[in-house]
Order: sequence, then structure tokens, then C-alpha cells
Amino acid sequence: MTMGMMDREVIGIDNVSLTYRARNSAVHALDRVSLRASEGEFVAVVGPSGCGKSTLIKLLAGLILPSGGVIRVNRQPVRGPTASIGIVFQNPLLMAWRTALRNVLLQIEIRDLPVENYRATAQELIELVGLEGFENAYPHQLSGGMQQRVGLCRALIHDPDLLLMDEPFGALDALTREQMNAELQRIWMERRKTVLFITHSISEAVYLADRVLVMSSRPGRIVGEINVDLPRPRTVEATETMAFAQFTRRVREHLNSGGAIE
Ligand SMILES: Nc1ncnc2c1ncn2[C@@H]1O[C@H](COP(=O)(O)OP(=O)(O)OP(=O)(O)O)[C@@H](O)[C@H]1O
Ligand SMILES: [Mg+2]
Repeated sequence: MTMGMMDREVIGIDNVSLTYRARNSAVHALDRVSLRASEGEFVAVVGPSGCGKSTLIKLLAGLILPSGGVIRVNRQPVRGPTASIGIVFQNPLLMAWRTALRNVLLQIEIRDLPVENYRATAQELIELVGLEGFENAYPHQLSGGMQQRVGLCRALIHDPDLLLMDEPFGALDALTREQMNAELQRIWMERRKTVLFITHSISEAVYLADRVLVMSSRPGRIVGEINVDLPRPRTVEATETMAFAQFTRRVREHLNSGGAIE
């Protein structure tokens, strides 16, 4: 842990509860969740299906407002859509009739920023994620992993302080997923964004994160926190060591104590 870097808070979630209300039903999704992340930190959240992980992302993005508690991004209370974040969804949702490059630039158009000023950055990002030569390819010409890389570029193009990733690699095959995890670690080490990464995979969380938070089943609460102080860059071989297994075991123990897991 580098001193100084730990000081600046990027995510501050205090006692946040969320109940979805419809005409004659209410779903208590989150129960007094508190979570903090400092600048440059990589935090992973694991929890059973339906425990409110995507809800947490929606709250941070300002797409929904909490029923109780406070959410801050960069120490500012979130009251609506947040400008300084990038989101990577499970399904990259690329525009079929736009090339890879123009899908990345779409983010700029939506934010009403001058597209010309971002062309070089888009090209740089495409190279960073290893998609050089595919700038003009359409989504149907790209593999699932490549589409997800475009999604990552799109989330980074406006240089957000915070990157929210909601099970970004869940739909990929195991080998591609492993490769994407290694790439993400490399990109994160290069760019040092603050990342909140949601996953169902315990080993993915331990491989990527500085800190793993474990949620209970609904209503979601934080029931465990594990600091993963494995050296970086972490290799695929490192995931087969005893040290690694000790971390995954601790995460699993918290999951088991916090409610059902899938
Ligand atoms: N817009 C909504 N209206 C009503 N209920 C909702 C809404 N969105 C989510 N929920 C409910 O809130 C709970 C939490 O949903 P959420 O999508 O946050 O879970 P999750 O942890 O992301 O699950 P998964 O791992 O399956 O993606 C679920 O029970 C879900 O049915
Ligand atoms: Mg979800």
C-alpha cells in the first residue's frame, strides 16, 4: 500500500439501503451497506445472485437514488448521473452498425464532447487493449472477448476517475476470461483507475483485487472483507499456489456464513 494514494476517497458509501417499490410490492435489495475505495484501488465484490450487486453499480452511477444512507463519488454526494465514471456491463451492448472505433467514440458523442479531440485517445486505447487493426471492424466481425475490449475502451475514453465493472467477463469462455483478467490487470497497473469489479467468480476476485468484499444474500449486506496482498503482476501460475488458495477459501467462508451461494 503506497502512502498518499490511500488518502483520497473515490467511493464513499455509508449505510446505504435500497428498496425497490412497485404498486403493491417491495423488494428490499440492499441493507445498510458501507463501502469505501481510495484512489487507484481495485475492489472486487462477490455475492450470490440477486443480492444487489448491480443495484450497487446503479446507485454509484446515479441511475437510482438510495432509500437511506449516503453515496459519494469523489466526496460529492451522488444526486444524478455521475460524470466521472465509466461502466462496463456484462453484455457490451455495442451498436451493430458502428465500427469498433466509432463505438468507442459514441461515449463522447453522448456526453456532447468534441469528437475530433478524442480520436487519438480512442486509437491509443484500442492499442492498449490489443485491438490494433480492428478499428474499422463491425461488432459481428469481433469475438466476444474483442467486443468486451471495445466496451472497456468505451468506458475509459472520457478518462473517468472510477471504473465500474458489472460481471464484465461472465459471458466469456474460461480461457478468454483468464486472458481478459490478465489484460485488465495490466491495464489497471498502467492507468491506476479506481475500479469496483463485480463478479460471481471467487478466483477472479482474488486474482484481480486489492480487497474483496463479500455480500450476503438479499437483502445484500457486506459480510466480509479480505485484503489480498499478493504481489503484482499476478500470473496465472500464481493462482495455483497455496497462498492464493488461502484467499479463495476465506472468501468462500464468508459467502457460506452470509447466506446461500449458487
Ligand atoms: N428495477 C427493479 N425493480 C424491482 N426489483 C428490482 C429491480 N432491479 C432489481 N430488482 C431486484 O433487486 C434484487 C437485486 O437485484 P440486482 O440486479 O442488484 O442483483 P445482482 O446481485 O446484480 O444479481 P445477479 O448476480 O444475478 O446479477 C433482485 O431481487 C431483483 O429482483
Ligand atoms: Mg447483477
